[in-house]
Amino acid sequence: MADYDLNTDAYLSTIAQADEQDDLDIFATHTLFETIGDPVGKTVIDLCCGDGRLTWKLLEMGAKSVVGIDISGEMLKRAEAKRQLLPADEQKRVRFLQADLRNSGLTLPPVDIVSGLYVFHYADTPEGVWGMGRFISRNLKADGHCALVTLSPDIDPEDDHSAAQAEAGILIDYRDEPKCRFQIGDFSCPIWRWDRAVLERELGMAGLCDLAWTGMDLPDSRPDLQARFAEWRQNPQCVVFSARRARPI
Ligand SMILES: C[S@@+](CC[C@H](N)C(=O)[O-])C[C@H]1O[C@@H](n2cnc3c(N)ncnc32)[C@H](O)[C@@H]1O
Repeated sequence: MADYDLNTDAYLSTIAQADEQDDLDIFATHTLFETIGDPVGKTVIDLCCGDGRLTWKLLEMGAKSVVGIDISGEMLKRAEAKRQLLPADEQKRVRFLQADLRNSGLTLPPVDIVSGLYVFHYADTPEGVWGMGRFISRNLKADGHCALVTLSPDIDPEDDHSAAQAEAGILIDYRDEPKCRFQIGDFSCPIWRWDRAVLERELGMAGLCDLAWTGMDLPDSRPDLQARFAEWRQNPQCVVFSARRARPI
C-alpha cells in the first residue's frame, strides 16, 4: 500500500486549506509555470499528480492533453472523480494512470512537457531517482522539456525553517537524512533528501541533460506575499528542476 493511500483525505484537506488561506499554490507553481512556458496546445505528463492539483491548472491554461501518474490508488480515485465532473470534451484531454515512477517501464506517446509537483524526494534510493529519470527521458519528445518542483538538493538542514514551516503548516524533519519525515496537518510520510551530486549523477545516467535548479519565487503582482514567504525564498526547501532529453533512448 502506498503512503498516500493512508490518511488520503487528511493530506488533501490540509493542502487545499493551505492553498486557499496561505496562497501556497501561487508560491508552489509560479516559478514552475515561468520555467515551463506557455503550455497552450502542448502534451503534458504530470508526475506524482495526486488528485490532479497541477493537472487541472495545466488544462485550464490550455494544454492539449495531460496524463497524470501516481502510485496511490486512493489519490487517483479522487483525481478520476474530479475528471468525471468535467464536460465531455475536456474529459478526453485528461487521463490518470497508476505507476511507481521509481521502477515503472510504462511507455506513453512522447510528450512536449514532463512536469510535476513534489517528485524526486519520493525515491528511497539513488536507483529510484534513476528510475524516475528514465521515466522522464523515455516519455519526453526529443525536443521536449522537463520542469518540476522537488525538494531542494542544496538545502541546509541545519538552518531554521520553523517560521516558514509553521506558516504553511508543513514540517520536514531532516534529522535522519537522507531519510526525512514530511508532515502536513495530520498526514505524515517518509521522504528522502538526496544531494545535488547524487541527483545529477542518476538523472544524467538516466538520459537527461541541461539540468538546472531554480529557487521558487513569487509573481510581482503579489507584493503582499513577499514577506510571508521571505524565509522560504532565502533558503528554499523546494526548487524547480528543469532538464532536456540527452539522447534517443
Ligand atoms: C505531496 S503529494 C503531491 C500531489 C500533487 N502533485 C499535489 O501537489 O497536490 C505527492 C504524491 O506523490 C505520489 N508518489 C509518491 N511516491 C511515488 C512514486 N514512487 N511513484 C508515483 N507517485 C508517487 C504520492 O502518492 C502523492 O500523491
